[in-house]
Amino acid sequence: MFAAGINGSWVAQRPGPGGQATDTQFNFVQEGDAFTGTMLSTMGSQKIVNGRIDGDAITFEVIANMMGQERRMTYQGKLEGDTLRLTMLMPAGVGPGGPGGPGGPGGGGMRGQREIVARRGVSESLKKQMEADARRPKPTLPERKALAPNGLAQTPPMGWNSWNKFGTRVSDQLVRETADALASTGMRDAGYIYLTIDDGWQGARDEAGNLRPNERFPDMKALGDYVHAKGLKFGIYSSPGPRTCGRFEGSYGYEARDAAMFASWGVDFLKYDLCSAGQMFAEADQPRLFQLMAEHLRAAGRPIVYSISQYGRANVQDWAASTGANMWRTTFDIRDQWASVAQIGFAQNGLEKAAGPGRWNDPDMLEIGNGGLSADESRSHMALWTMLAAPLMAGNDVRSMGKETLEVLTNREVLAVSQDALGRQGYRLAQEGEAETWVKPLKDGAWAVALFNRGNAPAELKLAWSALGLKKPPKVRDLWQGRELTAGAGGLAGTAAAHGVLLWKVTP
Ligand code: GAL
Repeated sequence: MFAAGINGSWVAQRPGPGGQATDTQFNFVQEGDAFTGTMLSTMGSQKIVNGRIDGDAITFEVIANMMGQERRMTYQGKLEGDTLRLTMLMPAGVGPGGPGGPGGPGGGGMRGQREIVARRGVSESLKKQMEADARRPKPTLPERKALAPNGLAQTPPMGWNSWNKFGTRVSDQLVRETADALASTGMRDAGYIYLTIDDGWQGARDEAGNLRPNERFPDMKALGDYVHAKGLKFGIYSSPGPRTCGRFEGSYGYEARDAAMFASWGVDFLKYDLCSAGQMFAEADQPRLFQLMAEHLRAAGRPIVYSISQYGRANVQDWAASTGANMWRTTFDIRDQWASVAQIGFAQNGLEKAAGPGRWNDPDMLEIGNGGLSADESRSHMALWTMLAAPLMAGNDVRSMGKETLEVLTNREVLAVSQDALGRQGYRLAQEGEAETWVKPLKDGAWAVALFNRGNAPAELKLAWSALGLKKPPKVRDLWQGRELTAGAGGLAGTAAAHGVLLWKVTP
């Protein structure tokens, strides 16, 4: 079949931050029925490979490096004269904020398939945007040195973050209503203190370079005051790159100004997410890049918990705390499915050496209450994050959550393990088929022990006292049920539901 012509530039409009269209430009270089090229967007330039033309049908892949991992997005399409109809197929495991634009859970419809219509031409707006980005002052990175701990986050930070449920659909009203709900439901009193607005609050910079919130946030200082008046702390999100993962304005080159601005709004927590900076800085420069913002946050003179995210690459746990970070993401994005929760959570073993008071591994935020997990899976998610001494950032709509969700999130005996003052991250003690035993040493000399059933059917799980080095039966308390169990002579067994967990406190 004869190869149609695709050579040259094509422009597609896709929904950008706040819903307005932004351009994506495809530059194809064709040789016979094969082609390569580049895809340009406000997030930068990405490679196009394995392009094939067969009649009017085309396919190609875009190599995305957005989530800190190389991922290939497949595009399929049809050539109709000067119009190219493309469908982007999302590979499994790509979360919100991936290449191509804003999205997130219900945010921009990123999941599954996406239709794009491109027409021949070049994008003037994109060209302007890229030139403006290139003119932005590139930050000078500080000399690498270990920053002293800032004294914050002595136990794993707890709070709420907008991303998992709301994506970029955040507003002043949502934040106020969430603050009200955190207070009225008892979440705040259980410890969920940090209310963080994730991506999507940003507008443009003014002439002086001050980053303004977008029209959904009329007054950030007033909003911070409202959050504080509810007995909560105020968190915000930015990126060391020119663009956040949702293609909003990042802090690139404006670190000092943004840190001072955040402090003036009363910000107590910053999530700082690599995003487009992954294309501007070598991986080896990341420690200095994150240290840069830590230094400016400190100079801003307000205690601010510093949460960094570069998806767990480059052995981040070995250097993150010394850049001034209180917590660092150890994984790509979580999704509201057991497979994702299990894949991420059970892969954390071995990272426990890096964690301690003031410094925590962050396997991403909670999905409990978002609908994709069964009751047993929700308890397993909560138990695993508790055992991991992970930050507990609820990611659901707390204004309308059911009783069951609230109970999983606020069980006091479970939270006591999460917030135990020793600050030790748990680890895997044993694994047999689909049964996993995790232990977390506690300050009072006891252990939290979690027996997970990863299988799809109920299973009998067993803990032998000898596995903990105990010669005689300890005291055992079931933390979900809040009752003492009778310890057997050599150990204790119990039945865990499919994807379920038994969570015990074992006191020698
Ligand atoms: C991702 C990040 C998410 C969320 C999102 C915002 O990179 O992992 O947690 O912050 O960006 O666009």
